[in-house]
Amino acid sequence: MTVSVKAWRSAILHNLADPAEVGVEASYQYFEDGLLVVENDKIIALGDSSELLPIYQDIDDITTVENGLITPGFVDTHIHYPQTGIIASYGEQLLDWLNNYTFPAEGAFHDKEYARSVADVFLNELLRNGTTTALVFGTVHKESVDAFFEASEKRNLRMIAGKVMMDRHAPDFLVDTPETSYQDSKELIQKWHEKGRLHYAVTPRFAPTSTSEQLTKAGELLAEFDNLYMHTHLSENQQECEWVSSLFPDSKNYLDVYDQHKLLSERSVFAHGIHLCDDEYHRLNETGSAIAFCPTSNLFLGSGLFRLNKAEEHNVNVGLGTDVGGGTSFSMLQTLSEAYKVIQLQGEKLSPFKSLYLATLGGAKALRLEDKIGNLAVGTEADFVILDYQATPLLQYRLEHSKSLDETLFVLMTLGDDRSILKTYSAGKCVHSRD
Ligand code: GUN
Ligand code: ZN
Repeated sequence: MTVSVKAWRSAILHNLADPAEVGVEASYQYFEDGLLVVENDKIIALGDSSELLPIYQDIDDITTVENGLITPGFVDTHIHYPQTGIIASYGEQLLDWLNNYTFPAEGAFHDKEYARSVADVFLNELLRNGTTTALVFGTVHKESVDAFFEASEKRNLRMIAGKVMMDRHAPDFLVDTPETSYQDSKELIQKWHEKGRLHYAVTPRFAPTSTSEQLTKAGELLAEFDNLYMHTHLSENQQECEWVSSLFPDSKNYLDVYDQHKLLSERSVFAHGIHLCDDEYHRLNETGSAIAFCPTSNLFLGSGLFRLNKAEEHNVNVGLGTDVGGGTSFSMLQTLSEAYKVIQLQGEKLSPFKSLYLATLGGAKALRLEDKIGNLAVGTEADFVILDYQATPLLQYRLEHSKSLDETLFVLMTLGDDRSILKTYSAGKCVHSRD
């Protein structure tokens, strides 16, 4: 393989740790005039230009970024690619929204060609928004997951996805059985798990749409293969929670339904986790499981306010999720803007550095991928974005009045969206260019 070395000279910002654990100052590194050096797909140097340019003076390919900022690519810890076409569907809370919009839309994904066309739209949208890794729901059809992984592999993206397991409380055209869900998932695992940059997630939709027999099968898959993810929903909506306690009367709480079926581990990601008791936070921490905080969805579906302070108090890993199509934007910047408001409504503050952490390294840690993605440390994969300080007249005008990095970051998150993403790189290659 020929060696290609490229560098980017720019303001550069990334996190080193969770500000809640080490304090804000120790949580990030910022180079006002920095240099990021990439060999093939990996980062080989990061530092001040004044120190690194003399060392790397032979590199011909140096891109200089004026009026912009390089950050790691964003990590979306919960999203549904088959719901791309029903984003912004009016008027319902979770259970009616599923029945009226989601299930009818997911029916079409038995057709692989159709699934492929949606996967292309979806991945383009992620990359336009600077998201380089996501944990993704397919549908119940294995074709949906084949189509998604093929499209991701073609672009060399680090992606995690899985086939929905769902054997009850859904239309006939969307249900599998414990046995077929096990067999189809197994086939997909053997085909895709840890192939290149791809990973498989065992994906029971949520407790109400799986029988105990099916959840047992999901647990068997996790025990049979190494490093599989488990991806589902948890305690999102009050009616959903009541339904779960009537369906599983022998479980102590919602999380316990999954726990009883051996679905909690360091690679388990639970979307939402809004209505949790202390026992549940405690158990999430004990098992190393993570929650995906999905603010635009939680507000749009009227689900409630995620309690980040509770998760922090119990040391539970948290990533940020868009949850499209319950969520209303593919933009992690817009998602952070809504996250700030969710925390404000509870009389607390979400700092700009914690926000950046949630969208990058925090997500990578929730997914146990922090040795590969999430920041710009030497040796990690070159997944990064260039943010444009002049993306819109208002952003440019507002940032001219910024007095600190904190303030700049906060303005970027509050006013930013897909227009702010000038370029997106995955494994050292440009996969989106705005202009
Ligand atoms: N709970 C079960 N399925 C879904 C879904 O598709 N979206 C959301 N937001 N919650 C769910
Ligand atoms: Zn979801």
